[in-house]
Amino acid sequence: MKLLKSKKRVNYWLRKNQIPLGLTKNKEIIWKRFTFKSDSLIFSARPGIGKSVMLKSFYFWLFQNQRPLIVFDPEGLDHRLSYFPNSHALKLPPETKPWGIKSLDSGQRAYYFTISKNPMPHERKFIPALSTFGIKELRSLGFSPGAIRKFLNLLEEYGPFKDFDTLMDFIHKFPIREDIAERYQRNMPFLLHDKQYLPNDVILSSTKNNLVQHLYSIMQEGIFSLNPEDNVSFIDLIKKGHSVFLSFDGHYDVCRAMVGKLAGEVIGYLKYLEDIGERDTFGQPWFIFEEMDGIIPRNPEPYEEPIVETLAQLILRFRKLSVGMAGACPSLTSLNKKVAQGFHEYIFGRFAGTELTEIASITQENSIISLVNNLYWNRHVNGGAGEREVLYVTELKQKYKIDPFECPCEIHREPTKVKKHESSDIL
Ligand SMILES: Nc1ncnc2c1ncn2[C@@H]1O[C@H](COP(=O)(O)OP(=O)(O)OP(=O)(O)O)[C@@H](O)[C@H]1O
Ligand SMILES: [Mg+2]
Repeated sequence: MKLLKSKKRVNYWLRKNQIPLGLTKNKEIIWKRFTFKSDSLIFSARPGIGKSVMLKSFYFWLFQNQRPLIVFDPEGLDHRLSYFPNSHALKLPPETKPWGIKSLDSGQRAYYFTISKNPMPHERKFIPALSTFGIKELRSLGFSPGAIRKFLNLLEEYGPFKDFDTLMDFIHKFPIREDIAERYQRNMPFLLHDKQYLPNDVILSSTKNNLVQHLYSIMQEGIFSLNPEDNVSFIDLIKKGHSVFLSFDGHYDVCRAMVGKLAGEVIGYLKYLEDIGERDTFGQPWFIFEEMDGIIPRNPEPYEEPIVETLAQLILRFRKLSVGMAGACPSLTSLNKKVAQGFHEYIFGRFAGTELTEIASITQENSIISLVNNLYWNRHVNGGAGEREVLYVTELKQKYKIDPFECPCEIHREPTKVKKHESSDIL
C-alpha cells in the first residue's frame, strides 16, 4: 500500500516499532510490538478505571503506524473526541506530545461519522439506507422474518418511495386479504405513492403490524434513509487506507448492523486480494470496539441472536486474514464467549467475585485470580484523575502490572468540580 511506504515524520515510538502502554512500579516502560501478524487485545475493567482511555491511546499508536482503523463507538461519548489533542495530558509516554487523530503526512486521514442529531464540527452525519442492509441486520433491528421478506419485496416491486410518509401510507393501506385486493383492482384507494397495488398481492396482518411498528420507530428516530444514494461508502475510504470513526448515539442495534455490514465488506475485500495474490498490497486494518459486550453480548435477546452469531463468526475470521481487533468492555462475562476467548492479549482492571473465575477460564491461567483481585485502584487521588494499576497479559502469558499512560488525544473526563450557583441566581 502506498501509504505504508511513506517514511515522513516517523516518531520515536514508531522508530522502535513499539506501542507504549504504561509504567511498572519500578518505572520501567512496558510496550507492545507492532506486528503484521494477526493480533488482538481487549481491555476489560469496571466502569471508570480507564478502559476507554487505554483503548484510545492504543489505537492512536496504530493510526500513527498507518493502520486503517474502523472504530465503533455505540455511545458516542469517547471516540468523537479523538480528533482533538489532549488539553490536560498528565502522563504521556516519553517523547510524546498531545496530538489528535486527523491525518498523517502520508495522506492517511481519519473520517468521523455520527448518526447523532448534533454532529460535532469535525463529524459528518450519516443516515444508512435501510435497503442496503441484509436480512440478518434487519432482523437485528427487530423486524420479523416475514416483515423483512415483505419489505424487501415491496421495495423491489413498488420502490423507490420518495419518503417515509409515502411508504407508511402505502403499507397502511396494503390489502390484508384477497377479497380486499380484488376490490382494490376495481376501485383503488387514494395513495401518496405513484404506483398501485398489483393484483393478488396481499400482506398478512401480523406481518403488516410488525413492519408498521418497527418502521414507525425508525421513522421517529430519523436514523435511516430510504434512498440508497444517501449512503456513504465507508468501504471505499477503508480501501484507500483511511480510517473511519463511527459513533451511534446509544443505538446499539444500528451499531451492530453496521459492524455486520462493514466486517463482511472488509473480509470480502481482503479475501479477494488474497485470491488474486495481492493481500500484501494492503496494510493490516484494525477493528476497534468500544463497549464491546453491548455490541456482541453473551445473552442477546432472541431476535438479536442471528446477528450476534454472525458477528462472532466474522470476528473469528479476522485472525486468518490478519485483521487486528481491539475492544473495551466492563466485564468478560457479558461478552460473547467465543469472542472473549479469541483474543491474543488482555488488559484487566481490578475485579472480584465471579468475574475472576471467568477471567481464569478465558485466559486459562489460574494464577491470574489473585493478581487481578489485588490490583490497586483509587479514584479519589491525583486531582480526581485517580491512581490505577492494570494487568497486561501478553500472548506468551507474561503478566505485567502497569500504571497505564494517558492518551495523546482528548479524553472524556468526569467533572471534578460542581459549579456552585450564586444564591441570587437561585432566588
Ligand atoms: N491513564 C490515565 N491517567 C489519568 N487519568 C485517567 C487515565 N485513564 C483514565 N483516566 C481518567 O479516568 C476517567 C475514566 O476513564 P474512562 O472513561 O477511560 O473509563 P472507562 O473504564 O472507559 O469507564 P466506563 O466504563 O464508564 O466507560 C476519565 O475521566 C479520565 O479522566
Ligand atoms: Mg468507557
